[in-house]
Amino acid sequence: MPHPSLISQRAVALQPSLTLAISARAKALMQEGKDICSLSAGEPDFDTPAFIVEATIQALHDGITRYGPAAGDPELREAIALKLKEFNKIQTSSENVLVTNGGKQAIYNLFQVILNPGDEVLIPSPYWLSYPEITLLAGAIPVKLSSSPDTGFSLDLEVLESSINSQTKLLILNSPNNPTGRIIPKNKMEQIAEILRKHPHVFVMSDEIYEFILADDETHYSFAAVAPDLIDRIFTVNGFAKGWAMTGWRLGYLSGNPKIIKAATALQSQSTSNVCSFAQRGALAALKGSKECVVAMAKRYNSRRELLIDGLKGIHGITLVSPKGAFYAFPKLPAHCPNSTRFCERALEEVGLAIIPGVAFGEDNCVRVSCAASSEIISEGLQRLKEFIYKL
Ligand SMILES: Cc1ncc(COP(=O)(O)O)c(C=O)c1O
Repeated sequence: MPHPSLISQRAVALQPSLTLAISARAKALMQEGKDICSLSAGEPDFDTPAFIVEATIQALHDGITRYGPAAGDPELREAIALKLKEFNKIQTSSENVLVTNGGKQAIYNLFQVILNPGDEVLIPSPYWLSYPEITLLAGAIPVKLSSSPDTGFSLDLEVLESSINSQTKLLILNSPNNPTGRIIPKNKMEQIAEILRKHPHVFVMSDEIYEFILADDETHYSFAAVAPDLIDRIFTVNGFAKGWAMTGWRLGYLSGNPKIIKAATALQSQSTSNVCSFAQRGALAALKGSKECVVAMAKRYNSRRELLIDGLKGIHGITLVSPKGAFYAFPKLPAHCPNSTRFCERALEEVGLAIIPGVAFGEDNCVRVSCAASSEIISEGLQRLKEFIYKL
């Protein structure tokens, strides 16, 4: 065990991932032969589409195995810019795009180059659990804006406006949202933009990584397209992990103000250098190829989400804001349940159900249940959840 002073203050302050802890415990129990049903996954359970794999194998055969430009393969940057223009309706070009090791590195790089110690980052809750940690790693202060399932986890605009002060540097938006599956409606984005126009020192990061995983009656809107006049202050984060089932490939991108992209490229050049060269050819194939695979996977998530919603609504005492996107639901537990960590530990030990404590996402009376699993596993998991809640 190293002496604590050997570890930097930054590293000591990092929260270990609760998600990983639960998954590790679930795996250990499975290895012991226990019957575990997991609705904890934060990643697609589909394989990467074959044409993407083929293009990557071809790239290896073609010798695309060397260092490349830190900002990314120029052809891929061009294709991403085109996708942002045509699909997301964001006015951009390839020099505004940085290819990163997953959406996570896009966020990390952005925060490292725009945040100074003492800057405040507004994080609407419930939030993806890495936002506060990446904020802290940049020496900045996460300011969590709470919301309630009783108001549909909707961001309260008065809370937003009253939280902005001279230290505020960045607002995070995430739609579709992990963990709630909530979509920020277009008119709400317009209202947020209206507030930001009054505060020209505040930047926005719009994390749109679940953009393709949407209920049939929903449309994805990019914040930079809804508020084009604020384009110099809006950073779009996205990636290939969720839409194309490419989590392990580590392929994401950051787009926005070219000055910041240049700074983030410099940071990347001194840390990880270019993203794996042949994997980038796979991403290029994904963007250039047919979107049928993306649509087909999204359809499967939609029917599973419906199954999850129906099942959760059938459990007495649960409050559910119905998710409209991504592959999660974030039900509030009945009042008699213990806190979310204890609840999930006990659910795992007592009924073999792996789900994620809501406290990791900022809400200790909720749990995150994933539908990135087969319908059979979802039905079984719901049965166990019901049984466990009723026996508490
Ligand atoms: C909301 C959100 N943003 C970003 C990411 C990062 O994705 P990537 O695997 O591309 O780093 C995730 C991954 O779970 C996520 O849920």
